[in-house]
Amino acid sequence: MNHKRVLRLAVTVAATGALAAGMTMTLTSTASAGTTLKASAAEKGRYFGAAVAGQKLSDNTYVTILNREFNSVVAENDMKWDATEPQQGRFNYTGGDRLVAHAQANGQSVRGHALLWYQQQPGWAQSMSGSALRSAMMNHVTQVATHFKGKIYAWDVVNEAFADGNSGARRDSNLQRTGNDWIEAAFRAARAADPGAKLCYNDYNTDGINAKSTGIYNMVRDFKSRGVPIDCVGFQSHLGTSLSSDYQANLQRFADLGVDVQITELDVMSGGNQANVFAGVTRACMNVSRCTGITTWGVRDCDSWRGSDNALLFECSGNKKAAYTSVLNALNAGPAITPSPTTPGPTTPGPTTPPPTTPPPTTPPPTTPPPGPEGCTASVSLNSWTGGFVASVKVTAGSAGTNGWNVSVTLPGGASVTNTWSATASGSTGTVRFANVNYNGQLAAGQVAEFGFQGTGSGAGITPTCTAS
Ligand code: XIL
Repeated sequence: MNHKRVLRLAVTVAATGALAAGMTMTLTSTASAGTTLKASAAEKGRYFGAAVAGQKLSDNTYVTILNREFNSVVAENDMKWDATEPQQGRFNYTGGDRLVAHAQANGQSVRGHALLWYQQQPGWAQSMSGSALRSAMMNHVTQVATHFKGKIYAWDVVNEAFADGNSGARRDSNLQRTGNDWIEAAFRAARAADPGAKLCYNDYNTDGINAKSTGIYNMVRDFKSRGVPIDCVGFQSHLGTSLSSDYQANLQRFADLGVDVQITELDVMSGGNQANVFAGVTRACMNVSRCTGITTWGVRDCDSWRGSDNALLFECSGNKKAAYTSVLNALNAGPAITPSPTTPGPTTPGPTTPPPTTPPPTTPPPTTPPPGPEGCTASVSLNSWTGGFVASVKVTAGSAGTNGWNVSVTLPGGASVTNTWSATASGSTGTVRFANVNYNGQLAAGQVAEFGFQGTGSGAGITPTCTAS
């Protein structure tokens, strides 16, 4: 029996039961519950990712799990400064390119990590300072983001720039000593180099409302008010044996500033509570509509930088741990909500008014879109600049659900598609057809999949049409 029939049956049974009981009907749950992390996350409009160490790509057990369970990858070390620019001005993209090729061959999106960080700098940069270092930093951002242009879903532009403890201040580093504006300069350089990538600030010890997360919150609020191009905040979430009760509230306050949030390096101390902590993080992300995905920092316990903490979701043998099941269940139980559009923020500086002193209004709770007619509908939101655009497309399944979908778009003359994510494009000019990829074709009634593409020229006025199979 195919998936669509199962869905129809389940809906009929649910409807009959609901009517008999005089209750409201819900259309989610069992029939659409995924059985892998990536399928379950994708059903809720999220990605589920893993950090990948390049040498593990030749380990069969590892790669089997990676491709079965994860639809996003990030280089554990291969895109860091010491790896990509070992000598000043001499770039090495071997490891990063290998990971991108793996991702593209397996329908996975790529997080870029990390353009500027006070650790894992090449020796030559560690010994630089002042304006020489500042220009080397900016050149690094520009060169690396340009090399990977169009291939990165989100970049950690700046990693770990805030101090631990109660100060809420920036961390001292050679980068910081080039001037307090180094972070915004890096974001502007990254936007100019790869306008299609979301640009994130990423840090740890930000797992609740505390002095450090508040320092970062204030920076993001300031950036948004001044038009500094920031799109997302990454919460590393290297966790111990418990989860702060305000973990979700902290994600939400950032989301309310108008940025996406992502769990970027999740791993949790093993022990009795590990499965609960993993589930708590997953639930928090599912409950925040702008939480676009979760990445675990590795695949199996023996791949983890935390060694004997056994901090991940799979045993070395490849077996799933209790924590795996708790994450999968939390994904499947999450509300079927639509994440924010994948358009980057403004590319031009905004008004120079000071940041608001009162918190911005809380976004209303997301609602499940009502099932439309059979088939599917598509809508597009466009972020344009002179000479180019990024289109974010939402596909909503009609009342019969979908086994697959196709979206056609007719581009204005002179425009062409240069890059596509979460769909496969046929053609690049005139009428371009986008088909689902393996993890986002099956949608229950009313469920939403998102994909995007980048183009040159103008995308003005494009109207998508959707057909379902
Ligand atoms: C770690 C890697 O996992 C290790 O292999 C490496 O030796 C050190 O860095 N925060 C980050 C990651 O942003 O880049 C770090 O990754 C873990 C902490």
